[in-house]
Amino acid sequence: MPSLSILVLHGPNLNLLGKREPGIYGSLTLADINGLLEVEGRKLEAKVTVLQSNHEGVLLDAIHGSLGQHQGIVINAGAYTHTSVALRDGITAVNLPTVEVHLSNIYRRENFRHYSYIAPVVIGQISGFGIQSYLLGLQALIHHLRKDEV
Ligand code: DQA
Repeated sequence: MPSLSILVLHGPNLNLLGKREPGIYGSLTLADINGLLEVEGRKLEAKVTVLQSNHEGVLLDAIHGSLGQHQGIVINAGAYTHTSVALRDGITAVNLPTVEVHLSNIYRRENFRHYSYIAPVVIGQISGFGIQSYLLGLQALIHHLRKDEV
């Protein structure tokens, strides 16, 4: 039984991965990404729970619900990254170590993507490595959670 449990949250439009702007987001589907996260979690002896929603409130409820259930969160908030004070406040409120990830490099794109409301309240951000952003984010979070154990 893995000792760590991690919640991976995918925000709006990420259910369309594979079809959605493949030149930017790649050809893997969300199911492919979730499968790879599960495999990586198993390697690192952590349970990975995934949730995608197009609704801000559902994502916020999941952040609240992670208290007592998960030890950390990996989040790709999609467009809510650039708009949501509510998700930022939720992350601050539960005070669980969180890593922000993006498939694309948000700083190479339109100006409105350059600001993340979430970045100031997370441990760190990984942006621009496609699926590797998620896997690196998961590794970084697990390393962070276990660093006091060694
Ligand atoms: C994204 C980048 C966001 O700007 C965009 O709104 C997304 C996906 C990414 O993973 O690169 O939906 O978070």
